[in-house]
Amino acid sequence: MARILVTGGMGYIGSHTVVELMQQGYDVTIVDNLSNSNVDVLEGISAIVGRRPEFENIDCNDFVNLEAVFKQYTDIVGVIHFAASKAVGESVQHPLMYYRNNLGSLITLLEVMKRYRVCNIVFSSSCTVYGQPDKAHLPVDETAPLQKALSPYGNTKQINEDIICDEAHADADLHATILRYFNPIGAHPSALIGELPNGIPNNLLPFVTQTAAGLRQELKVFGDDYDTPDGSCIRDYIYVVDLAKAHVKAVERMLSKQSEQQVEIFNLGTGRGLSVLEIVREFMDATSVNVPYRVVERREGDIEKVWANPTKANTVLGWKADTPIKDVLLSAWNWEKRLRNIQ
Ligand code: NAD
Ligand code: WQD
Repeated sequence: MARILVTGGMGYIGSHTVVELMQQGYDVTIVDNLSNSNVDVLEGISAIVGRRPEFENIDCNDFVNLEAVFKQYTDIVGVIHFAASKAVGESVQHPLMYYRNNLGSLITLLEVMKRYRVCNIVFSSSCTVYGQPDKAHLPVDETAPLQKALSPYGNTKQINEDIICDEAHADADLHATILRYFNPIGAHPSALIGELPNGIPNNLLPFVTQTAAGLRQELKVFGDDYDTPDGSCIRDYIYVVDLAKAHVKAVERMLSKQSEQQVEIFNLGTGRGLSVLEIVREFMDATSVNVPYRVVERREGDIEKVWANPTKANTVLGWKADTPIKDVLLSAWNWEKRLRNIQ
């Protein structure tokens, strides 16, 4: 069977994708420098799948060691590139670190791929490239105009997309699928892998589950005076396992040469927007656990409302995010309970 190289495969979305790839019969080599993940993730993946992926503790910016991976695994037919730094606030404080890591890793990877004639790449992009779409572009599809990034992190995603397009233009053999994720949440139903936020979570769901677990006193809801039905911000929350499955579809489409263009772009979302207050309510309903919350000031830089038009992914990739939100929220809670040894 074919081998897929998964950079950042020890991380949140990467680990779930490795599981789905292996369950579809692919061999997987993970390249990860563990800068934002833990080696124990390998045990979780192996317990779910019943076999172990190969793991190389390597930085994607390290050309020599990355090249050695391609030399060793001669059956690599495609790459999924998750490895990146992703904390928006940190990127504002340390822009150079973000540009170096997120741009350098992609450039190095593309150089090595070219040398070893591996010509299929799936790239993790983000709905952040759309900024706040105007009314005419909501729900947002892939043709919506991109807007100037609000953070160095967001800018790295836009530049990465440009790098891929420019390289594909120069090299007719290169095929790329750019996946723009909306807001990934939840954990594997086994509760053996999930999200491992560093310190105080910035993202909504980890903050909700940590508050429910008693680690945080209360959730701060950032603003209820937005132009939305209940005044809180709206996002398209997508189950991480559904998201992982989209990567398998993208790989299959490239390997079977169905793609019509050298670079294809897909929005990965549910097509449904949920407000912060709706998420809190759905979480309490699904788990029967109380989440104390208080509405506070808006968070600087927040987008008011964005959700996906996933029609292209639905029809072209043959993929749909259809896990009910209650199941998704329950999976996040089961993962938090396992992390905290809560019965
Ligand atoms: P994550 O931090 O959990 O996973 C990223 C993994 O990459 C980590 O295991 C980290 O150790 C590794 N890594 C980072 N830099 C590396 C390098 N130079 N070399 C080797 N390994 C490196 O993040 P995630 O949430 O799983 O996100 C995966 C990808 O999806 C990222 O590119 C991220 O920007 C993108 N994305 C994430 C979200 C989200 O909300 N989680 C949304 C849109 C896009
Ligand atoms: C969701 C909603 C908050 C925490 C960020 C990145 C983006 C992307 C995903 C990678 C917002 C509200 C949150 C809290 C709250 N990542 N909230 N209280 O802002 O959509 O996007 O992660 O590409 O680039 O910017 O996600 O989870 O931080 O927030 O009220 O304690 O929850 O205001 O409306 P966001 P988020």
